[in-house]
Amino acid sequence: MKKFSVGVIGATGMVGQRFLTLLESHPWFNVTILAASSKSAGKTYYEAVKDRWAMAVPIPEKFKSLKILDAVADAKKIASIVDFVFCAVDMKKDEIRTLEEQYAKYECPVISNNSANRSTPDVPMIIPEINPEHTSVIEFQRKRLGTTKGFIAVKSNCSIQSYVPALHPLRKFGIKNVVACTYQAISGAGKNFDRWPEMVDNVIPYIGGEEEKSEKEPLKVWGEIKDGVIIPASSPLITTQCIRVPVTDGHLAAVFVSFKNKTSVDEIKQLWADYKSLPQSFNLSSAPKQFIHYFEENDRPQTKLDRNLENGMAVSVGRLRADSMFDYKFVSLSHNTLRGAAGGAVELAELLTAQGYLF
Ligand SMILES: NC(=O)c1ccc[n+]([C@@H]2O[C@H](COP(=O)([O-])OP(=O)(O)OC[C@H]3O[C@@H](n4cnc5c(N)ncnc54)[C@H](OP(=O)(O)O)[C@@H]3O)[C@@H](O)[C@H]2O)c1
Repeated sequence: MKKFSVGVIGATGMVGQRFLTLLESHPWFNVTILAASSKSAGKTYYEAVKDRWAMAVPIPEKFKSLKILDAVADAKKIASIVDFVFCAVDMKKDEIRTLEEQYAKYECPVISNNSANRSTPDVPMIIPEINPEHTSVIEFQRKRLGTTKGFIAVKSNCSIQSYVPALHPLRKFGIKNVVACTYQAISGAGKNFDRWPEMVDNVIPYIGGEEEKSEKEPLKVWGEIKDGVIIPASSPLITTQCIRVPVTDGHLAAVFVSFKNKTSVDEIKQLWADYKSLPQSFNLSSAPKQFIHYFEENDRPQTKLDRNLENGMAVSVGRLRADSMFDYKFVSLSHNTLRGAAGGAVELAELLTAQGYLF
């Protein structure tokens, strides 16, 4: 199989660093271009990140001496060299929308971690195990952009990846109402404790824009394609509170759910245990073997103990029990920069490759 030449836009950031550790020896994707802001452009990768490398593993040797390009000024050049780019940048939304569309129009597909294009109706927002069929909207997007190869595909916000996977197999019971309170790691803000000392021994009850995304994005993920666009699902009704807590990685959600047709605890656990999707049938290299793991122990899942399950790509669930106001409640957890960001984007690129959208 062809090995794809890949660029990472935003390579110096928290998600960008995670991309490079995941792609260091990927079987299909070979990172050849690193890009960031004009501040980093011209430096070697090592010079740019040596004082802010936040991963537990060292900076991969093969990237240390690569010269960083300017993601904006060098866009045309980058697009002409690579087969596609991963994009995770901290810029204004309208600037990101322009940047991503520019790469796509230069016939360079963009697999994005950014929120800027998540509500664009013909841009698929994919959790590979949940809505892999939404990639078919890409053909309509290509018509709009006037491209034959270029397109934008995005992954969803990291917070929803802690509870949407657990709810998804239960949709056949008609999910009516969901309350999800998320306890989110500081790496979700691109920070560690050195760069955010105020978070030590602290909880901050506000994450800008997060509750809106957490309530809206699941409906697009569960939407239907009609006339070349994704029409969001009209239910369930979802309300959230998103709280920043002093952990490095891992978003944990406390979830309450009610159904039109109530089911049993045993049936729910069985559906979680049996759930498999296209990434498992395609045997994609980043896909977990078991997407949803249920823990019977009362004190699991725990952020520190369970976030790295199946290389941080599995979702852990526990404490399923009846509730006095809703039908059931449970706790679920996912790794925000792996499943929720770079890992999810790499799995999405693998899915797009297997489906023939990257060539
Ligand atoms: N962290 C998470 O868990 C997470 C999860 C899901 C999605 N995301 C999304 O992923 C994106 C990146 O997040 P992050 O946490 O990695 O942020 P970050 O650590 O602050 O990194 C931001 C990156 O953007 C680059 N950048 C900033 N301004 C730029 C410009 N004008 N032109 C080109 N590049 C520019 C930075 O380059 P310099 O180093 O040169 O400034 C850096 O590489 C955001 O959209 C975020 O919402 C993050």
